[in-house]
Amino acid sequence: MFEEKRIKIAQTVEYLNNRKTINPKIAIVLGSGLGGLTEKIEIVDEIPYKEIPNFPVSTVQGHKGTMIFGRLNGVEVVVFNGRFHYYEGYPMDVVTYPQQILPGIGVKTVILSNAAGGMNPTFKVGDIMLIRDHINMFGNNPLLGPNDDTLGPRFPNMSEAYSQRLLKLAHQTAEKLDIHVQEGVYIGVTGPCFETPAEYKMYYILGADTVGMSTVPEAIMARYLGMEVFALSVVTDLGIVGRVEEASHEEVLAAAAKAGPKVVELIYNMLPLV
Ligand code: HPA
Repeated sequence: MFEEKRIKIAQTVEYLNNRKTINPKIAIVLGSGLGGLTEKIEIVDEIPYKEIPNFPVSTVQGHKGTMIFGRLNGVEVVVFNGRFHYYEGYPMDVVTYPQQILPGIGVKTVILSNAAGGMNPTFKVGDIMLIRDHINMFGNNPLLGPNDDTLGPRFPNMSEAYSQRLLKLAHQTAEKLDIHVQEGVYIGVTGPCFETPAEYKMYYILGADTVGMSTVPEAIMARYLGMEVFALSVVTDLGIVGRVEEASHEEVLAAAAKAGPKVVELIYNMLPLV
């Protein structure tokens, strides 16, 4: 029943294992406007998605499409420069394809980043929020359907979707670097519309601090496959009751790019202890 899927993943994994020359245990997914991290990487192998068998190709402006194997602060990493969003029309299986191939290339930890709207009234544009937990508001789940028990459990435990250990490490690192960080809950939605003021208000009442259109499916898949997850949001616009600042995609990219160096510094300095 799962034969076709297993073959597909095995082909991708085999290609990558033959082509890459280092064996990172940490994967990083770059969110909108956070491509600046790539400038810090000592690149060893850069592989365009279109050359990777069975790999999807991203369509959004501001998102590139390469898998970069390299070293950051002396630590081997594989970086996905470009992700696949549900709003692009991809099924959840495709959205989470990068995570599905990671165990096969030896990755144990996934770091996810995103640009997000902030609902918490203490948040400002440009803030970094370390993700403590998420709410899945996609109305979908990448694990729906028959379960391949060889990959992960039918009913995955999500009591610690985001590693407490890595969250603590991020706080400690931020403090050392004097980088101001927030912590909170990310709610994942389909988009592609940004929220109405009433929707921002609803999501805040539901318990979320930031809202965005990615990360949740990827975190679910990564946890299902037994990887440790750390994630953060860059607040690029505000959906705070009474002062919603509606953003355009360009403004989101600009705000993320501005906060980018802080995110890069934080991740860079965390890596040796991840
Ligand atoms: N809502 C949803 N996704 C986003 C936002 C937002 O306000 N900002 C950046 N990504």
